[in-house]
Amino acid sequence: MGNPHTLTLTLTLALCLGADAVNPGFVVRLTQKGLDYARQQGMVVLQLQLAKIHLPDFSGSTHVSPLGKVKYSFHSMAIHSFQLPNSQVSLVPKVGLKLSITGGFIQVDGQWKFKTKLHFISGHGSFVLKVQGLSISVGLKLGSDGSGRPTIYPSDCSNHIGDVNVHISGKYKWLADLFHRSIDKALRKAIEKQICPLVSESILQRLEPILQTLPVTASIDNVAAIDYSLTGPPPVTAECVDVQLKGEFFNHVNRTAPPFSPPALSLPVDHSLMVYFGVSEYLFNTAGYVYQTAGRLVFTVTNNMIPKNFSIHLNTSSFGTLIPQISKMYPNMLMKLYITSTSTPFLTMKPGNVTISPMTDIEAYAILPNRTLAPLFLLNVTTTALAKLGVNASRIVGHLEISRVQMALKHSDVGPFSVSLLNAAVNFYIAHIILPQVNAVILNKGYPLPLLDHVQLVDVVLQPSEHFLLFGANVHYG
Ligand SMILES: *[C@@H]1O[C@H](CO)[C@@H](O)[C@H](O)[C@H]1NC(C)=O
Ligand SMILES: *[C@@H]1O[C@H](CO)[C@@H](O)[C@H](O)[C@H]1NC(C)=O
Ligand SMILES: *[C@@H]1O[C@H](CO)[C@@H](O)[C@H](O)[C@H]1NC(C)=O
Ligand SMILES: *[C@@H]1O[C@H](CO)[C@@H](O)[C@H](O)[C@H]1NC(C)=O
Ligand SMILES: *[C@@H]1O[C@H](CO)[C@@H](O)[C@H](O)[C@H]1NC(C)=O
Ligand SMILES: *[C@@H]1O[C@H](CO)[C@@H](O)[C@H](O)[C@H]1NC(C)=O
Ligand SMILES: *[C@@H]1O[C@H](CO)[C@@H](O)[C@H](O)[C@H]1NC(C)=O
Repeated sequence: MGNPHTLTLTLTLALCLGADAVNPGFVVRLTQKGLDYARQQGMVVLQLQLAKIHLPDFSGSTHVSPLGKVKYSFHSMAIHSFQLPNSQVSLVPKVGLKLSITGGFIQVDGQWKFKTKLHFISGHGSFVLKVQGLSISVGLKLGSDGSGRPTIYPSDCSNHIGDVNVHISGKYKWLADLFHRSIDKALRKAIEKQICPLVSESILQRLEPILQTLPVTASIDNVAAIDYSLTGPPPVTAECVDVQLKGEFFNHVNRTAPPFSPPALSLPVDHSLMVYFGVSEYLFNTAGYVYQTAGRLVFTVTNNMIPKNFSIHLNTSSFGTLIPQISKMYPNMLMKLYITSTSTPFLTMKPGNVTISPMTDIEAYAILPNRTLAPLFLLNVTTTALAKLGVNASRIVGHLEISRVQMALKHSDVGPFSVSLLNAAVNFYIAHIILPQVNAVILNKGYPLPLLDHVQLVDVVLQPSEHFLLFGANVHYG
């Protein structure tokens, strides 16, 4: 208690998640390692972009005795190499990022020529211009736009050139050497003037469009889609950037706010991977809410769904061996079950496991010869299932496994009986017939992750935590 480091850590954590009134249903945390990877990818693009610098021809005249007036020009310049070997991206709390480049190097090849009044004295040659110690600093402001996508804008760009050296060759090298100072200065100015506009252009035209590929709506099926829009500008701390997304299922045709809100998530401080995802149980619970209210969690079980080798078939003689009144009242008839989820199935995430405990009603009917359904009994069943969740390159995948079934008789049309007689039958139907259908509706297809185009996750590490599923990964872009 009272350990100042722990306190600082806790404060950083809290700040990392910002102080938004609305908790996100999904958080994407970029660590310094992730930003470094993004920087490496970005520098390749930036280097190509900056190599587009236009080097204007440069001419002038000067007086050299005993030749008199000498007119000279430097022309046909082309960038031979452009290198930005050192770069660094750092987090600027509450603002965004800062990209710093140092030790940049440019080599330009070109031609020079001169003319004097004495027409027999003129000359030309080539030159190599070396720009050394180029440094660039640019701020990257993070925000979100009206459609809920992340935005990035350049700010406070500055650049500086350390040294410019011209190496001249040709017959009249000594002469050209006389005016190299003015070409040094002119080219330095020309280059310095163009760098920041080109950097800004790269950010706006190359980086920004990549962020715009965030799928703010991920369609799942004909009922539901996930809202992955940003809840606001991403909070930045000295440790990380947290992109906070709504992370909420909604019904395509009838969007209504779920009657519960997302819990606060506190992501741990382990930053050894590039990106961490916090998937709130809220995301899964809104899925349950949407499918439940859309009537998709209603299942019918008929005898033809029961495997031939299972001892209890859905007929009145088979059930009559358990509850004799059934075969007495309805001899030799087939039966049918309706299974309805009676409330939103809530998922509970705890360190180590994820459970879901849907409450269902099972209504049993005998099918009379004229196809009318005669009610037999109504059970209240609470199933506890373990959700086994995983993440593949682009989706959260999973399935449910039964761990416990509890039931109570709510109502009987065939007189009193002990509900425990139905244990084996109900357990079997739930595990082998209902669960596969629930899996098919809510989990098997997987939930697409909110990833930018061309981003794949590797080295995924999964860890169910209090109220959310945490997973960390490294990123592969390309
Ligand atoms: C939309 O959903 C709400 C809540 O689930 C429901 O009360 C309402 O009847 C639905 N409206 C339509 C047009 O389906
Ligand atoms: C019933 O048959 C299936 C294959 O059709 C088999 O997987 C299962 O183990 C069998 N069950 C029993 C109780 O024999
Ligand atoms: C009812 O199911 C049992 C197996 O449990 C089967 O032997 C019997 O033929 C079935 N009766 C009818 C009427 O389908
Ligand atoms: C889930 O984990 C908690 C805590 O570790 C434990 O108490 C609980 O029994 C587990 N539930 C299941 C169904 O394994
Ligand atoms: C079907 O048969 C039952 C019992 O024989 C009878 O009570 C019911 O009215 C019949 N329903 C129809 C639609 O004929
Ligand atoms: C249904 O079961 C749940 C949990 O087992 C219980 O809390 C609830 O009261 C039951 N409802 C009825 C109507 O028996
Ligand atoms: C991820 O899982 C989904 C759903 O199971 C599957 O369709 C997809 O092919 C998987 N992708 C990879 C890369 O394994």
